Amino acid sequence: MTAARKAYRASIIHSIGDPAEVGLEASYEYFEDGLLVVTDGQIESVGDAGILLAHLPHGTEVVEYDDALLMPGFIDTHIHYPQTGMIASYGEQLLDWLNNYTFPAEKAFSDPAHADEVAEIFLNELLRNGTTTALVFGTVHKASVDAFFSAADKRNLRMIAGKVLMDRNAPDYLTDTAESGYRDSRELIERWHGKGRLHYAVTPRFAPTSSDEQLAAAGQLLQEYEGLYMHTHLSENRDEVEWVKSLFPQCSGYLDVYDHFNLLSERSVFAHGIHLCDDECKRLAETGSAVAFCPTSNLFLGSGLFNLPKMEQHKVHVGLGTDVGAGTSFSILQTLNEAYKVMQLQGAKLNPFKSLYLATLGGARALRLDDRIGSFASGNDADFVVLDYNATQLMQYRMQQAKTLDEKLFVLMMLGDDRTVRETFAAGQSVHRRG
Ligand code: GUN
Ligand code: ZN
Repeated sequence: MTAARKAYRASIIHSIGDPAEVGLEASYEYFEDGLLVVTDGQIESVGDAGILLAHLPHGTEVVEYDDALLMPGFIDTHIHYPQTGMIASYGEQLLDWLNNYTFPAEKAFSDPAHADEVAEIFLNELLRNGTTTALVFGTVHKASVDAFFSAADKRNLRMIAGKVLMDRNAPDYLTDTAESGYRDSRELIERWHGKGRLHYAVTPRFAPTSSDEQLAAAGQLLQEYEGLYMHTHLSENRDEVEWVKSLFPQCSGYLDVYDHFNLLSERSVFAHGIHLCDDECKRLAETGSAVAFCPTSNLFLGSGLFNLPKMEQHKVHVGLGTDVGAGTSFSILQTLNEAYKVMQLQGAKLNPFKSLYLATLGGARALRLDDRIGSFASGNDADFVVLDYNATQLMQYRMQQAKTLDEKLFVLMMLGDDRTVRETFAAGQSVHRRG
C-alpha cells in the first residue's frame, strides 16, 4: 500500500528549544515559504517549499494557505472540562468560588448524558481554538471520564484526563472514598490508559479535599501502572495555602504534602504554583515535576502573579494552562496575552518566541510528550494549526505595520483568539475549519 501523503504550504514556525536555555534565535525554525509533509498522520518533513517540493513524490496533494502561519497545535496543560458551562461566574476568590459555583456545576456530571453533551461541546471549543492536546480534570464521577475519553477517542486526539479524587471537605454529593476512588481510577486506567492517543492522570483535586488515605492510594496507583500522570492544584491562593498548613501540620509546606505521599514525579503536573518558596521550586525541579501557568485564571480569581523567571532560574518545567472555568478563555493566544501582562506587572517581559515555546514545545516537555507533539520533528504526530494573520479587520490593519516575524507573532498573541484559527489538524486529519 502507498503511504497517505499530503503537504501543506504556508509560512511555518515551530519551537525547537527553550529560549531561556538556548537563546531566542536558536529556539525556533521558521520558513517564510514553508512546506509541511505529512504521511499517515505523522510529520515526514518540514522545510523550505522550494527545496521540499522538488522531492515530493509525483501526484502528492499540496494544500496552500495565504497570509497564514502554520505551527504545532497548542497544548493546554491544565483545564476542567466539567466547568465549561460555569466559565465567567462572578465575584469570588478560589474557596468561595469552588463552593458557590464549581461544586454545584460538577454535581450534574452524575448524569452520563450530561457528561456526553459537555464533552462534545468542550472538545469543539478546544479545536476551534487550535488546542490539540490538553491535560483535563473530570469530576468525581467515573462516568465523566468515560464520556470525555470516548469523545476524544472518536476524534483520535492526544488527551490526558482523570477522575477527581475527593473524599473530604466537599459536599456529600461530590465525594468518593479512599477505597472507591482507588477502585474507580483503576477501572478507568484499565479501560483508557494507552488506548489510541489517550493517557490517564491520577487526579486528586487538591490537598484539602483528600484524606491521608486517599493521597496514599493515589501514590499507590502511580506505582502500579507505567506512564500515569499525576494532576492536581498547588499553591494557588493564600487562604488555600494557610488551610493546607492547618490540615497537614506535620508537613513543612503545601508541596511537602504531595511529596510525603510520593506524588512528585516526571509526570506530575501542578496547576498554579503562585505562592511557592525557593525550596519548593528546588524540589519541583529535582523531581522533574511541572507547573501549569494559568494567567487568565490567576487574574480572574485574584489569586496572584505567577513568577516565570523564578521557575526558569530553578529549571522547573512550565506549561501553559487555561484552567477553564476559572480561566476566562479556551484560547491559548488569549492566555498568552494575559501571561504577557502578568509578566509586565512584575517588571519582566515575555518574548513572543518564549510564548510560542510555552504554547507548544514547552507544554509538550512539561507533559513528557515532546517525542510525539509540540514540534515538527520527523515522526511526531501531525497535530497542527493554521493561523490567519488577517482574522479580523483590526489584525489585518495592524499586520500591515508589522515588519518583523517577532512583531507579527506578538500581534497574533495579543489580538488573536478563536477567530484566528483557520484550521486545526489532529493526526493529519482536519478536525476544525473556521466558517
Ligand atoms: N483548586 C481546587 N479545585 C480547583 C478548581 O476546580 N479550579 C481551580 N482554579 N483551583 C482549584
Ligand atoms: Zn484548575
